[in-house]
Amino acid sequence: MPPGNAVAIPTKDDIRARLQDVEKTFTPGTPVSSLTELVGREASLRELLSVVASPGRHAFIAGGRGTGKTSMVSCFLDCASRAAPHITCVRTNCENSSFKAIWSKVLRRTLALLGMASTQFDNVDLSCLDVEFELARMKTPLLIVFDNFEEILNPSDIVQFANLMKVISDNAVDTKLILVGSPGAATQFKRAHISVQRHLQIIPLAGLPPVKVQEFLVGRWRRCGLEIMDDALSLAMELSCGLPYSCQVVGKHAALLALSQKRSVITVADVAEAMKQVDEHFLLVSAINPAFNKRND
Ligand SMILES: Nc1ncnc2c1ncn2[C@@H]1O[C@H](COP(=O)(O)OP(=O)(O)O)[C@@H](O)[C@H]1O
Ligand SMILES: [Mg+2]
Repeated sequence: MPPGNAVAIPTKDDIRARLQDVEKTFTPGTPVSSLTELVGREASLRELLSVVASPGRHAFIAGGRGTGKTSMVSCFLDCASRAAPHITCVRTNCENSSFKAIWSKVLRRTLALLGMASTQFDNVDLSCLDVEFELARMKTPLLIVFDNFEEILNPSDIVQFANLMKVISDNAVDTKLILVGSPGAATQFKRAHISVQRHLQIIPLAGLPPVKVQEFLVGRWRRCGLEIMDDALSLAMELSCGLPYSCQVVGKHAALLALSQKRSVITVADVAEAMKQVDEHFLLVSAINPAFNKRND
């Protein structure tokens, strides 16, 4: 905040309205789903778009918890479904399931979206060739997202996914696979089949650069009628380590603390207190993981 800037003391009604604004503005509990709310992922979105536009290529969005993988892919699907309505987009959570269970669910859902007769896959031993046959039979462009891919624990299920990626690419089936998961899962997947490397692009999600963290925090606090002291902003930027989840938590709780004391200015004490709300796991991972701090956007 520029020195000497006088900020009016908010009234009770102002405070009530601003508390509601804070709840709407900061969403640490839910992924972002609209492009206008997604900060600093332009380069990653462009990279994903170029993979989707390249025949025979598929993507793996790789990053730790809270880096914004689900948010980025949600925004991408939102844009894709509006810009290219002829593409059918399907999204699933892997949830510790097998290749067969995941694909039974995805194929059933895709057939339903296309208004095609449903097939019962539960009792058949669904191989990667069966899946490829079903996808080709649909004769329509498909974009299929598998979120939380690291939850597939059985290596033979991962190998089946890798085989399928190769078969889909080799047979020019009009289906794009977007896998989303931890960096470890991306590496494991890449090693699952020798020729997957030709078809797969890993898109790493690193931390947001400082300029984007600043844009996010200052811009959103202003939306709630709040300003921030310079030293408080520096502390928030340092402690959040560029992790979108931490930015959301600090942004929200520092704002709530200031408003609870009827202030329009966020102080160092608010930021320090708000930081206690960030799950220690996130802080530890972002502080010690050099790949995370190597910002790529
Ligand atoms: N680019 C971004 N801009 C603003 N907020 C973000 C961004 N990416 C993620 N978030 C926020 O961070 C939190 C974690 O995001 P999420 O997409 O669930 O991460 P992941 O899937 O990697 O665990 C959510 O509260 C989401 O709203
Ligand atoms: Mg996620």
